[in-house]
Amino acid sequence: MFNSLKRALPICMSLIVAAGTFARAAEPGHFGYGDKATPEQIAGWDIDARGDDGAGLPPGKGTVQRGSEVYAEQCAACHGTFGEGEGRFPKLVGGAGTLRDDRPQLTVGSYWPFAPTLWDYINRAMPMPAPHTLSADDVYALTAYILNLNDVVPNEFVADRDSLPKVKMPNRDSFIWTDPRPDTMARPCMSACANPADLQIVSTAEGRNLTPRTTGPLDTMQPK
Ligand code: HEC
Repeated sequence: MFNSLKRALPICMSLIVAAGTFARAAEPGHFGYGDKATPEQIAGWDIDARGDDGAGLPPGKGTVQRGSEVYAEQCAACHGTFGEGEGRFPKLVGGAGTLRDDRPQLTVGSYWPFAPTLWDYINRAMPMPAPHTLSADDVYALTAYILNLNDVVPNEFVADRDSLPKVKMPNRDSFIWTDPRPDTMARPCMSACANPADLQIVSTAEGRNLTPRTTGPLDTMQPK
């Protein structure tokens, strides 16, 4: 007991000294933790490309042909040679016209609204075993190839920061861009709010057979 206390004491002392050093390093108004991020570190994290206008897409370009080569090497094992999906890995192609089905097939071609988002997704997340290892050119090429597999762009299409935002994705107009819910607008309703009597419930999880009737919140939460 005594021995371990004796051993612990110098450690405590050095921790106190270290804490003092940190405290002295603290700038007024800050806690003194961490370092200021360097421009290089920020650039390493700042990789997003915006969907609608492609803001953030880097220089570079890629053809459908080059994309088919990279795809065969790095993607086809999981997503299938033509994007049809191996086993349970996601399909990247097909599904057009299925969005209203009971089991819609959501793919880049049938569902995604913006082509720059495809660049962004591949760049940050694929290939799954080694994300963010592809060059910008190869990501452009893969984007061109997957769009071409979906018949969204012709064989001679070249993907770059100018061409991708101009691609009109098949499902683009089916998205609703103005979401009227107050929480999405971050504007709390303080006055003249909607009158609950005017609101009409047009669909419920129960009505769609997603929630069993007997265990739904209405049954369990009503006052006895
Ligand atoms: C080891 C298997 C594997 C490899 C290799 C792979 N992917 Fe994927 N990919 C996945 C899985 C799993 C998902 C679904 C991830 C999720 O939903 O979180 C996915 C999702 C995607 C999606 C989004 C599909 C959608 O509609 O949501 C795209 C696009 C994609 N991958 C492209 C690629 C490209 C391009 C390559 C090659 C550079 C690649 N993937 C390599 C397994 C893989």
